[in-house]
Amino acid sequence: MDLKFGDIQETALITLAIRASETARSNARIRDPKAKEIIDALGVDVSKFDPFLSHEGVVARTIMFRDELKRLLRRYPEAVCINLGCGFDDKFSQVDNGKLTWFDVDLPDQIAVRRKVYEDRERCTMMDGDALDGAWTKNIPRADMYLIVMEGVMEYFSKKQVKTCLNMLCDSFPHGYLLVELHSPFLEKHGSHHDAVRHTNASFGWGTKSGREYLALEPRLKYLSEKSYNEEMKKYSIRGKLFALIGKNINNRLAVFRW
Ligand SMILES: C[S@@+](CC[C@H](N)C(=O)[O-])C[C@H]1O[C@@H](n2cnc3c(N)ncnc32)[C@H](O)[C@@H]1O
Repeated sequence: MDLKFGDIQETALITLAIRASETARSNARIRDPKAKEIIDALGVDVSKFDPFLSHEGVVARTIMFRDELKRLLRRYPEAVCINLGCGFDDKFSQVDNGKLTWFDVDLPDQIAVRRKVYEDRERCTMMDGDALDGAWTKNIPRADMYLIVMEGVMEYFSKKQVKTCLNMLCDSFPHGYLLVELHSPFLEKHGSHHDAVRHTNASFGWGTKSGREYLALEPRLKYLSEKSYNEEMKKYSIRGKLFALIGKNINNRLAVFRW
């Protein structure tokens, strides 16, 4: 298949590659059989996208986002969930409770490729949508609670774009939680050395020391929690433990906000 990806869209192949290679391990910490199927169906070469630190980071974040979503879904089982910047991720399968409604949203060219390897499922629908323009949100049904997931997306936005996105979410949905991946100013500055992203044309945007920096951009948000991926990564290997010490403040984090 002859596929052309935009600079940020191409980064979706990194997580895809890592989820497929982790699933193939005998002691896999996450299982995503669809990832390998997608790589084979698209015929893409993802061999350069699976170095150690990125691998461990993607495994950690997959576990952390899944567990946080499951926790919120116990409280709001009928929430509308939106995976904004979904890439090829199949989070719906990991957390489906039989009651939620799910939307996989990404830029039109990315959704077009996603449609080659996924079909809409009951309560799980793909939709074209831009995190920087809320026009698509009119097609999302009304609900008492919205759970928005942005995993590996905000890292590529400038500060102005982060503000646009946060304002758009609070304007479009009356109540919600935002589960969002954050990165550090260190990565913003030195991102060209990132072990996987350097193989793409994408570059990192505005990095934060704390998710509280989002509050100045969108005062309707309440800051609930923030956890470094180190907390998960250090459980599995000596290199993970070492990185948690040396890279204490530079690893990415999962932050949770509500409004
Ligand atoms: C690193 S990938 C992450 C994909 C997925 N969330 C995951 O964790 O596997 C970044 C994704 O963000 C999407 N993206 C970039 N800019 C976007 C925008 N303005 N609106 C919606 N999605 C966007 C890209 O198309 C890509 O699928």
